[in-house]
Amino acid sequence: MISYPPRKSLAQTPTPFQFLARASDRWGHGKRIWIKRDDLTGATLSGNKVRKLEFIAGHALAEGIDTLITCGGLQSNHARATANVCAQMGWHCELVLRGHKPQQTGNTLLDHLFGAELTVVEPNRYSAGLEDVLEEAAARQRRRGRVPMIIPTGGSDALGIWGYIAGAEELSGDMATAGVERACIISATGSGGTQAGLTLGMSLLMPDSPVWGFAVCDDADWFATKVRADIIAAQKIWTGLNGPEPKINTHDGYIGPGYGRADSAVYERIAALAALEGIVLDPVYTGKAFHGLCQEISAGNFNDFSDIIFIHTGGVFGIFSHGEQLWQAAGALMTVVD
Ligand SMILES: Cc1ncc(COP(=O)(O)O)c(C=O)c1O
Repeated sequence: MISYPPRKSLAQTPTPFQFLARASDRWGHGKRIWIKRDDLTGATLSGNKVRKLEFIAGHALAEGIDTLITCGGLQSNHARATANVCAQMGWHCELVLRGHKPQQTGNTLLDHLFGAELTVVEPNRYSAGLEDVLEEAAARQRRRGRVPMIIPTGGSDALGIWGYIAGAEELSGDMATAGVERACIISATGSGGTQAGLTLGMSLLMPDSPVWGFAVCDDADWFATKVRADIIAAQKIWTGLNGPEPKINTHDGYIGPGYGRADSAVYERIAALAALEGIVLDPVYTGKAFHGLCQEISAGNFNDFSDIIFIHTGGVFGIFSHGEQLWQAAGALMTVVD
């Protein structure tokens, strides 16, 4: 039994665990493809981030925090989820977003609706001096009489990874119920916290079921360092997390043209899965990871496993800034009647 730090219940969990019969027929090459529907953790709070925020909010409550400050791209899912949690908790939220001006669409629109204070920082300054900008934001909030807490990119640190240690425990229960003894577990990886939590959690609970992160930005070496650092930091604070050193697996061959941009094969895979199973992936994270998974299966990899579990980490609001490409990829089954 894992003993958890303070946690504020926010996510709609357990999320559904589903067998994808038609996707398995089409892309599984004899393997069964399952999906863990973490896109259904909540409506505007959907995706993987809320699992981390349950522990971040639990800590904030215990410490008397009333302001969360975090950062990310203009369309950051993590920033939107943080803004939503703050609105639910009655806390103030400041989002430090990388870009030129707020976009009135997708996640930025939701941030604005949730009442978050948006600080948009020019990309070069953001890359060169993010920590300073965040510290300045915290100082500004303190001057206003607030008690702020800075959450790092993606909520990925020793505290945030608890979200997917808990997610791994939930998944191991799903697997037992479905009669899946061992599986290869696949997730998109961006700031590494989801991968770190899953990797550590599965290594403690089901060591025969490896986790593979499909990178959407940096390379496998970057993730090896970041994921290991988050795991070690958590193990130092919570000794119950210690065990054999977990193996960190990252595939970095499907980043495509870069973070936030996708090629036509990804758009086509998203459209195909949506029509086949009624499940919507996004072009920034889950679409790339699922496309990579299908390509790897078809290349004969993951052959030691008859069961593959894809963690759907959400991100649906990301489709709207790629509408034109997705529209084209979906083909034309459309009649206009005058
Ligand atoms: C939809 C979605 N999937 C996956 C990820 C990757 O999670 P992590 O940042 O924990 O690596 C993110 C991160 O922003 C995300 O928004």
